[in-house]
Amino acid sequence: MAVGIFDSGLGGLTVLDAAQKRLPDVDFLYFADSAHAPYGVRDAENIYALTRHAVYNLWDRGCDLVILACNTASAAALRRMQEEGVPAGKRVLGVFVPLIEALTERQWGDNSPPREVAVKHVALFATPATVSSRAFQRELAFRAIGVDVEAQACGGVVDAIEDGDMILAEALVRSHVDALKRKMPEPQAAILGCTHYPLMAETFQAALGPDVQVYSQGALVAESLGDYLQRHPNMQGEGKGGFLTTGKPDFVSDRATQFLRRQISFEAA
Ligand code: DGL
Repeated sequence: MAVGIFDSGLGGLTVLDAAQKRLPDVDFLYFADSAHAPYGVRDAENIYALTRHAVYNLWDRGCDLVILACNTASAAALRRMQEEGVPAGKRVLGVFVPLIEALTERQWGDNSPPREVAVKHVALFATPATVSSRAFQRELAFRAIGVDVEAQACGGVVDAIEDGDMILAEALVRSHVDALKRKMPEPQAAILGCTHYPLMAETFQAALGPDVQVYSQGALVAESLGDYLQRHPNMQGEGKGGFLTTGKPDFVSDRATQFLRRQISFEAA
């Protein structure tokens, strides 16, 4: 039995890691579309096609539930895939909603009208494709009023992380935070709206300063997945857990082992 976790590359490991800690008895089949990463510089049509292909791969391997542990894929493909209809017994879920529910102090599934919330100035750090989709702002507007969101497209950060060049990734994060602060000098909260960015969480926090609350998705998504599986225990699927990549398995395994600080072995998808 396995739940599918999908990302363009290594970022979804931040969600997988939190999900494994929260749900130690659940198996996960992780799919990294490393050959096509980064997604964040692609157009929406291309991201949709790549995401759809990977999700069907996971469904075909017996996963009934697939989590898009990728904001870029969630922004460009989730709604469209759900609207076009998914095969019987299969589900695909994204990563925006748990984060926005936490930011707007809502319980899961609270669909009451938008209302004022404590946080008023929010910095969003995400890939160029996620920023231009405005999907985050749209989901937020369903739940909150009066929140000022300043978005910063963080070009280059995902490529640097995928290449294992953490010095470049840190320099880019600092420069993207500076750029954001020129537009919004005093954000109250910062959203790491790309699952790769929690790997740089300390750099974001240091650059933003101690007064800014930084929200990452791992634990929030894991918590909401736990709730979901409690309500739908039959959605754990029939597949086997493991790690798949469309890239070079040895290279991807080395990077993943470095990030999660435990041995991870990817196989060719
Ligand atoms: N981890 C991804 C996200 O959450 C992806 C990035 C990319 O491939 O550009 O957006």
